[in-house]
Amino acid sequence: HSQANIYEAIGGEEAVERLVDAFYKRVAEHPDLIPIFPDDLTETRRKQKQFLTQFFGGPQLYIQEHGHPMLRARHMPFQITPTRRDAWLDCMAEALDEAEIEEPYRSSIFERLTMTANHMMNTPE
Ligand code: HEM
Repeated sequence: HSQANIYEAIGGEEAVERLVDAFYKRVAEHPDLIPIFPDDLTETRRKQKQFLTQFFGGPQLYIQEHGHPMLRARHMPFQITPTRRDAWLDCMAEALDEAEIEEPYRSSIFERLTMTANHMMNTPE
């Protein structure tokens, strides 16, 4: 089924807001992630809401403001090790629960984010 269904099916803008807020709350407290993220996550959170909105099949908010995501290139300034990939995915798994994203969307989203996170790794341990 089309990804557009995912954005609508999980509850659109409100669901993305709940998910991203729950996610960065954890990132801000994760010892493996703190060193590479800015202290003020306001802008990071805003961009991630734009990105995930389009990733889930909603309006193309990220591309409209920032152009093509080129995510791997945008992550190159940061050392993304397997440990940090795992930390990111742990925060996201908990955020999906807190935001009450329901099956089958939760698993489908997590699977796609796992592939994207694997693609983002750029540094060995
Ligand atoms: C930005 C880390 C995976 C999407 C960032 C930033 C860091 C980071 C440090 C910069 C924050 C800032 O300066 O505001 C990581 C780590 C990952 C990971 C450790 C573990 C694999 C992902 C994945 C996605 C993603 C899987 C996609 C779902 C983004 C977006 C931005 C971003 C959209 C904002 C890019 C921009 O500046 O426009 N990430 N990231 N990241 N990340 Fe990740």
